[in-house]
Amino acid sequence: MCGIVGYIGDKIAEDILVEGLSKLEYRGYDSAGIATIVEGDTIRRRQVGKLIQLRNELANSPCPGTIGIGHTRWATHGAPTQDNAHPHHHAGITVVHNGIIENHHSLREELREKGHTFSSETDTEIIAHLIGRYRGEGQDMLTALRTTLGRVEGAYAIAVLDQLDDSRIAFARKASPLIVGIGQSENFLASDIPAVLSHTRSFVFLEDGDHGFIHHGKVEIYDEHENAVERPIKTVDWSPVMAEKGGHKHFMHKEIYEQPRAIADTLRGRIQPGTLETTLSEINTEILNSIERIIVVACGTSYHAGMTGRYVIEKMARLPVQVELASEFRYRDPILNDKTLVLAISQSGETADTLAALKEAIEKGAPIMAISNVIDSAIPRLCEPSGGTLYTRAGPEIGVASTKAFTTQLVALNLLAIELASVRKTCSDKTIETAIDALTRLPREIENLLDLEDDIKAVAREYVKADNMLYLGRGSMFPIALEGALKLKEISYIHAEGYAAGEMKHGPIALIDENMPVVVIATPGLGYEKVVANLEEVKARGGKIIGVGHESDAHLKSLSEQMMPINGSEDSVSTVLASVPLQLFSYHIADLRGTDVDQPRNLAKSVTVE
Ligand code: F6R
Repeated sequence: MCGIVGYIGDKIAEDILVEGLSKLEYRGYDSAGIATIVEGDTIRRRQVGKLIQLRNELANSPCPGTIGIGHTRWATHGAPTQDNAHPHHHAGITVVHNGIIENHHSLREELREKGHTFSSETDTEIIAHLIGRYRGEGQDMLTALRTTLGRVEGAYAIAVLDQLDDSRIAFARKASPLIVGIGQSENFLASDIPAVLSHTRSFVFLEDGDHGFIHHGKVEIYDEHENAVERPIKTVDWSPVMAEKGGHKHFMHKEIYEQPRAIADTLRGRIQPGTLETTLSEINTEILNSIERIIVVACGTSYHAGMTGRYVIEKMARLPVQVELASEFRYRDPILNDKTLVLAISQSGETADTLAALKEAIEKGAPIMAISNVIDSAIPRLCEPSGGTLYTRAGPEIGVASTKAFTTQLVALNLLAIELASVRKTCSDKTIETAIDALTRLPREIENLLDLEDDIKAVAREYVKADNMLYLGRGSMFPIALEGALKLKEISYIHAEGYAAGEMKHGPIALIDENMPVVVIATPGLGYEKVVANLEEVKARGGKIIGVGHESDAHLKSLSEQMMPINGSEDSVSTVLASVPLQLFSYHIADLRGTDVDQPRNLAKSVTVE
């Protein structure tokens, strides 16, 4: 959480920093700020609230200069106030920081005793004070930076300006993401690729412990042992337009519409219709043959993807799959061994709890693997020496509510299930062929579903004033119900609960009356009759049913107030299809309620604190 950006070159830094922050706002939007250096002075502008507030201030009081740093904040230490907004400044040193300095209380006390006074409650201000103090004691910038890094404990990605030297920006990273964008006579620092994608596609992905400087024409990197190192420059194939709204009202809407393309990309080169194989070259398929079970660790939407994937993996590969909330996993001393694959699912590749769960797995000798959307992010890096990463190729997901990342995760899990089944020979050729064909058809089927948006918007209009909603599903549609409910609550702020349909009569049925809309996912296949029976129970108690099911299902139609139809496909991928109308339903309810769809209150997209 929090996004940082840095620029040094010949252009006006303010423009580049603010543009970069606009692409990082998904990481937090409690406050924003930038700082530049002009003729030995630091110029700093900070505002509480979204970036627009900072833009307004800059319109009246610009921040000149061609070197600068910027920050968008998701508050951890200290309320979202102007004083707590980054950049923080002390004795000519200005710092932006993403992460948490765990020992900031003791450092603050120590510095107070030495006469320092602080103007914020943040952990970050400590860094400015420490570097400023060591500089004041005569240390050069590199030494002062290293001395400071030696004193702080926790996670950080920092960018530091020294007003005595406007020829470079110092940086350091440990357990928080930081990349260097390489330009022509200009260089960039950023928490994530989209921030500087309109300026360069060449990036250095810094390692933990890396620190150094970006200059106009060069980048100076030292590793954790203070040795100068050359890190490879990688070219990313994301295009700048991927990080723009492209005519859509919100990123979330655009990302829902990108799903046919994102899924086609995720499948590209990995399956061929009419064949019985997958080509998953990024992962270590040997591991898949030797394991006896899989534990999926993930959070939020990615956890729901894991829960959904369990059904297809268990069915096709006959391998037990356990799905765990990453935030709970390591607190119960999990039983792991070298025959248990721990599979992390993470769009961002940097979720702190998921990362910590993987570290626990490594400690206990289990092989690890990931499904992720961000190349070279922390989780894929951790998995590199073990099982590797199956990348979803969704492109940058900027809307805070995950959509295309979720459905591409489901597709990746289907690919993994097919790979496992063919390596372990647990399925007939016919089953594998059918699964591959179903995946191949998916992009077109989603396009057809998107054509029904107006109908779904009309359903959304009926429920815009609801205070509560229930989502029901059975089997692999149970996690889709959970995901549908999560999507609704996070962007519309309507309280929504997902339930396994069979659990209704064990408690939640007490909630049913004419004011309780119930979204029921009832697709043909295993458990259909039982879901319909549960639906009758809801109906009998006056509940309003919104059916999500096959468009030709007359029975479901007759029981439902409204239908959100999905067209047919194989059972294994109908979870992907059912997700699409639920996304559009939440989107339109939220939009009609006038909430901030892309940046819902209190949330940030990458949760890098535990
Ligand atoms: C909800 C959402 C979150 C994330 C969760 C995990 O729409 O996006 O629940 O799924 O924070 O994030 P990743 O997948 O980046 O580990």
